[in-house]
Amino acid sequence: MEETQYITSINGVKIPYLIYGTAWKKNYTAFMVEKAVQEGFFGIDTAAQPKHYNEAEVGIALNNLKEQGIKRESLYLQTKFTPLSGQDPSSIPYDKNLPIEVQIFQSFENSKKNLQTSYVDTLILHSPIDPYPVMLRAWKAMESIQEAKGALQLGISNCYDLDFLKQLCKDVSIKPAVVQNRFYQETNYDKELRAWCAQNDIIYQSFWTITANPHILSSDTVEGIAQTHSRTPAQVLFRYLNQSGVTPLTGTTSKTHMRQDLSILDFELSPLELEKITTLLS
Ligand SMILES: NC(=O)c1ccc[n+]([C@@H]2O[C@H](COP(=O)([O-])OP(=O)(O)OC[C@H]3O[C@@H](n4cnc5c(N)ncnc54)[C@H](OP(=O)(O)O)[C@@H]3O)[C@@H](O)[C@H]2O)c1
Repeated sequence: MEETQYITSINGVKIPYLIYGTAWKKNYTAFMVEKAVQEGFFGIDTAAQPKHYNEAEVGIALNNLKEQGIKRESLYLQTKFTPLSGQDPSSIPYDKNLPIEVQIFQSFENSKKNLQTSYVDTLILHSPIDPYPVMLRAWKAMESIQEAKGALQLGISNCYDLDFLKQLCKDVSIKPAVVQNRFYQETNYDKELRAWCAQNDIIYQSFWTITANPHILSSDTVEGIAQTHSRTPAQVLFRYLNQSGVTPLTGTTSKTHMRQDLSILDFELSPLELEKITTLLS
């Protein structure tokens, strides 16, 4: 890993500049993950949420890659605990009738088994939990997983309320090192939240980056910048995020797009170009 290829978190965890997302790939997840790593991805995102992710297939890919000489430790791996509200009732990876702490421990044990690993780099809470006292109990359970070295650090996803995030950071012993959010207009692209994360050593990861922003990608500004650099609009948006301290996720299934996404470090946007795109995102 070259230094420009990752951001080092507050816990010393190296987070790649681009993470490969494994949602919605069903029984071709292993094939896609193997391909993605062979193409050059070294960060993988999954979740203990069988409705959208096939963690066991990610584990199969990791095992195949190990046989090809790519060690687990050379990859960045993150998974999530998905609260009951995000699960399909027919495939919950824990006993929903047990206390939240036990749900988290069961889910995580299952994740480790699926992923054929003894630890994950980041364990992410898929969404905030209501009511807040239960949220704090859940976080404490996740902290104990980190303390037992099952996870090197913790994160939270779908967390769009900055006041909530600030409160959480005040109330817990181990603060989130990662926030993973949908990058879209409805939240004003989390502008304030991202700035606060940057000031507080929290790495912001974006998803829905391409899907939610066709108007940005087809704008004259982004198309013009893309032409200047002989790149695609998607590459420009990913590079913009990258230069702005954001780690995008991409779940592309296309080899061409994998290569395009991975090659965003080969060009650099000027301060004026960055400013023009920032203006678009408001
Ligand atoms: N925390 C959460 O709640 C949450 C929710 C959703 C997703 N996620 C994570 O985020 C990952 C990414 O999901 P996503 O929602 O951002 O969508 P995605 O699965 O990455 O899909 C994005 C779309 O962008 C296209 N694409 C990718 N690179 C491109 C390029 N260079 N040029 C043109 N098109 C390109 C893809 O098409 P092709 O396949 O044809 O390239 C696809 O249609 C998921 O796999 C999952 O791990 C997390």
